[in-house]
Amino acid sequence: MFFMSINRERRVMVNVILLMCAWSLSVTLIVPLMVGNGGAVRNGADGDAASWIQHLCPNYRTKPGSRDTLSWRPPSAQDIFFTQTSCAAALSIREACAVESAARHHPHQQVLVLMTAPDLDRSHPLLQLLQTLSNVQLAWLDLDRVFVEGGLREWHRGRQWMFSEGRTSAEVSDAVRAELLRRYGGTYIDLDAITLRPLPTTMNWLGRIDSKLVTAAVSRFAPGHPLLQSVVDNIPSSFDPHGCCSIGPNLFTHLLHQSCPKNVTTPSSAHPDEAEHCNGVTIFPKSYFYPIHYGYRKDQLESIFREGEGLGRAFLSSTQAFSLHLFNSLSHQGQVSPDGDSVLSEVARRNCPALFHLVKTKDRWL
Ligand SMILES: *[C@@H]1O[C@H](CO)[C@@H](O)[C@H](O)[C@H]1NC(C)=O
Repeated sequence: MFFMSINRERRVMVNVILLMCAWSLSVTLIVPLMVGNGGAVRNGADGDAASWIQHLCPNYRTKPGSRDTLSWRPPSAQDIFFTQTSCAAALSIREACAVESAARHHPHQQVLVLMTAPDLDRSHPLLQLLQTLSNVQLAWLDLDRVFVEGGLREWHRGRQWMFSEGRTSAEVSDAVRAELLRRYGGTYIDLDAITLRPLPTTMNWLGRIDSKLVTAAVSRFAPGHPLLQSVVDNIPSSFDPHGCCSIGPNLFTHLLHQSCPKNVTTPSSAHPDEAEHCNGVTIFPKSYFYPIHYGYRKDQLESIFREGEGLGRAFLSSTQAFSLHLFNSLSHQGQVSPDGDSVLSEVARRNCPALFHLVKTKDRWL
């Protein structure tokens, strides 16, 4: 799924066609929109939205009367941050659990939830719940202020991310994460990763998903780290709108292997329980953040949802993991009752108790 087998010639051809499409589309569609918006800087007072919002989220609409405008605020190196890049005006139940679990396990750190939707539905019960947590803060993820430097600036202004065939919000998320970590540093956590214990306090780490891939889906870096600089510099040329993950896991894995060909091999030659090291970056083994893989076996990810087998308790009593990644794009259809004994319901019960309680009292599913 991650490594594409399309041969090189075909890829070059597709890229040429795509570039032509991109160019004509940008002339006919995007340029007039940009010009029409007079440079497109959003003004919260009169509701003139930045033009990228229409491109990222064509269906995004501000609900009249319910406006609660967020302000842009970048993370600091001590913060934990999440990014919501599909312009949802609230979070889903699992996303809220991810945020609450990170906030509870790190009571002395600010947890910042950066949302591409500038106006939130603050009456939403899940957002109200998160706002009762003193170290959680919601802020606006203004792409025009994220992508202001280097090649990413043009990549964003040309709306390159629009051509990624159904994966726009994931590609934007990969680029945003890399650029924010590069510029400001901090701890980044995917919105589909539930924190199980306080994350490692050392600096400059990420994790293996499996023997072939390293990812920053849960990661921590100091500002200006050379690995992130290199990722960001490579995004415009590595971006492949046809496949998954060209500027996420594939790029991190490639760059780490390139700079440390002996230490970071694919497949990995390290012992499955041991970290790998490359120029001051620690690559934690998969058991740290991805204890349940999305697809070695057909039913593996499903085991997060299975009930009546005591899997939840068994998982929690045996795992040393810091985080459980739900691979939401593959797992979002699975639903479980909070009363069951599945991995998801046990993990939620212990790590996002306020959310868990709300789900139970409202008779909802996890
Ligand atoms: C490779 O790994 C070894 C053992 O962990 C470490 O001492 C060395 O510094 C690493 N090499 C690089 C280039 O980081």
